[in-house]
Amino acid sequence: MPRSEGILRGDVERFHDPDQIGDRVDFDPRACVVHFDFGAMRGMRAVVLHGHGGPERLAFVEDVPRPEPENGEVLIRVRATSVNRVDLVVREGYPGIEVRFPHILGADVAGVVERLGPGVEGVREGDRVLAWPLVACGRCPLCARGRPGLCVNWQYLGLHRHGAYAEHVRVPASSLIPLPEDVPFEEAATLPVAGLTAYHALVGVGGLQRGETLLVWGASGGVGTFAVQIAKRLGARVIATTRADGKRAQLEALGADWVLNPRREDVEAAVRELTGGLGVDVVLDYVGPATFPTSFKVLRKGGRLLLCGILTGREVAFSIHQTYLRHLSVLGLYLGEKPELEALLRWVAAGELRPVIDRVLPLREAPRAHRLLESGKVFGKVVLTC
Ligand SMILES: NC(=O)c1ccc[n+]([C@@H]2O[C@H](COP(=O)([O-])OP(=O)(O)OC[C@H]3O[C@@H](n4cnc5c(N)ncnc54)[C@H](OP(=O)(O)O)[C@@H]3O)[C@@H](O)[C@H]2O)c1
Ligand SMILES: [Zn+2]
Repeated sequence: MPRSEGILRGDVERFHDPDQIGDRVDFDPRACVVHFDFGAMRGMRAVVLHGHGGPERLAFVEDVPRPEPENGEVLIRVRATSVNRVDLVVREGYPGIEVRFPHILGADVAGVVERLGPGVEGVREGDRVLAWPLVACGRCPLCARGRPGLCVNWQYLGLHRHGAYAEHVRVPASSLIPLPEDVPFEEAATLPVAGLTAYHALVGVGGLQRGETLLVWGASGGVGTFAVQIAKRLGARVIATTRADGKRAQLEALGADWVLNPRREDVEAAVRELTGGLGVDVVLDYVGPATFPTSFKVLRKGGRLLLCGILTGREVAFSIHQTYLRHLSVLGLYLGEKPELEALLRWVAAGELRPVIDRVLPLREAPRAHRLLESGKVFGKVVLTC
């Protein structure tokens, strides 16, 4: 096993700050395992991203310095996290995303409180918890208006701060949500990003109503499998799309009323037919330019188009004239508010909704998990445990 010579004992002080693990780590991408040498400090296992690139840039490290919870924070022993598209984007690199390497990905945190930082009350060591994935400043005008999910100084776990591809992560105590005993960590770990986004889109922003019809593109993924179930729970009808015929039966089993394959079917014509010519009430579109024109066309008068992803690109052009003539709402969002995550967790705890987990892998197999998500062969979520 390669032993890193990149870190000298004199650097230990600098690495004490968990957000500055350091930038001089040699690693062997073939082995994907590196060792830090940081003297007597306690370490942890983590999957560390050493630079932008493919999944081989993720290295399983045996002894990364363990984070220290700061004022108002707790140290969580992570039991499960899940892989999200944002992890792939941060790994690959994207205009506007700045990452200090080495970096730890992972926005979904499900685990146990291990240690309390200064000033923390109302939380005990040993508590099972789920974490809201945003860190809000608590001081900006939108935080002051009770909308920390819109915080202008927001930070995102696994992007602006180290995340949960690790044995330990530090999070604000205010982000924690008690996790009932009967919700497994693996299921809980699918909720903060994919589940919350689907919930916030359909309930908080889209206001999907009983009897309305929703179109969800790429419904076989993390957000999509939640969206189908949430829409059914709300009493809506669901038109789901998948480009894979093999996923059709699974989407029907989840509750989708109709499943269309956009590679073989004319989605616009099919939606017209299924809605008696009216069009759908709501479209959930995270695919982007490839699907936006159809999303826009198939909305009924007064319909809502929910945008929360850019799988095929960032920019589209659309008609202002059509937008106002047809009373359309084009609404963007990311993630959601903590009370929405709590509400979603209550549904899961009550058995009203079941996160769809394609597979659970050990943390050290994070590179494989990324490849799986990129392959498009996943149905639902890939979870990592440690
Ligand atoms: N705004 C937010 O807060 C937020 C949060 C979570 C996710 N997102 C974004 O939402 C998107 C979906 O996330 P996810 O976690 O659900 O990802 P995912 O699990 O990988 O699922 C995405 C689904 O989209 C479909 N798809 C992928 N590429 C496509 C393409 N080129 N054209 C048409 N369909 C395509 C696939 O379905 P089929 O193969 O079955 O067609 C796939 O199952 C990502 O862009 C992600 O970054 C945003
Ligand atoms: Zn704020």
